[in-house]
Amino acid sequence: MKLLDKHSILEKNPIILLIGIVLMISVGGLVEIVPLFYLENTIEKVEGMRPYTPLELAGRSIYMREGCSNCHSQMIRSTRDEVERYGHYSLAAESMYDHPQLWGSKRNGPDLARVGNKYSDEWHREHLIKPSSVVPETIMPGYPFLAEADLKFSKIDIDLKVNQMIGVPYSDEQVTNAVADLKAQLDEDSDDYDAFIERYPSAQVRDFDGNPDEITELDALIAYLQMLGTLVDFSLYNETENNR
Ligand code: HEC
Repeated sequence: MKLLDKHSILEKNPIILLIGIVLMISVGGLVEIVPLFYLENTIEKVEGMRPYTPLELAGRSIYMREGCSNCHSQMIRSTRDEVERYGHYSLAAESMYDHPQLWGSKRNGPDLARVGNKYSDEWHREHLIKPSSVVPETIMPGYPFLAEADLKFSKIDIDLKVNQMIGVPYSDEQVTNAVADLKAQLDEDSDDYDAFIERYPSAQVRDFDGNPDEITELDALIAYLQMLGTLVDFSLYNETENNR
């Protein structure tokens, strides 16, 4: 009875009640959130994930700039219809190097989390320049200017550096060689090829926009799209999952 009497003070005085609520929520919040900062890793590690190559990172910036995520998600849900349509549901580890994440919340077009290697570079070229040339009923706008726009990459090392500062495990060597690596990914015959592949295993190396003489924004965007969802080898992943 005594305690209830005291509680009536709270109930009758909104300011004290408010302070009580704030105190309660803060403590509850801290207890839930603070341990996450001290865990080594809250994301299950997955074989194959690597930081994006400088060219992919540049393509990702263009994807953000053009607002592709206004119409496309990059997050396959674990429901059966999604998995049958798009492939294995998205793992947390697959967006661990995404700053910011591009999961998206709107799907005017299909999910793109695993679009890599689904189409040829040529298909992407035609589709991005004039989507209706390959999908007549599409409502996607064309981005023909990407093929004309020179990619600005002289300061791409700063992009890598910033990612490094916020926790993406780029080595100092990767940061220093960013400009050379960006060019190397576009040319299988370049002298930097071996060093590049060593720094970014499994990266796809070729000219992406069909115009080897220029490095365009289309090169970067297609390199990014062709990488999406290809880093984790799901045949391996499914095996270990089934063996558990
Ligand atoms: C107004 C909404 C809209 C915007 C903005 C948009 N798209 Fe699309 N996109 C669509 C629709 C609808 C489709 C399905 C029809 C088609 O293939 O064109 C599609 C299809 C695609 C596909 C083929 C996916 C598949 O699995 O068949 C890719 C790749 C793609 N878009 C990339 C992009 C990129 C990159 C951007 C930004 C430069 C972008 N889209 C911007 C609506 C959009």
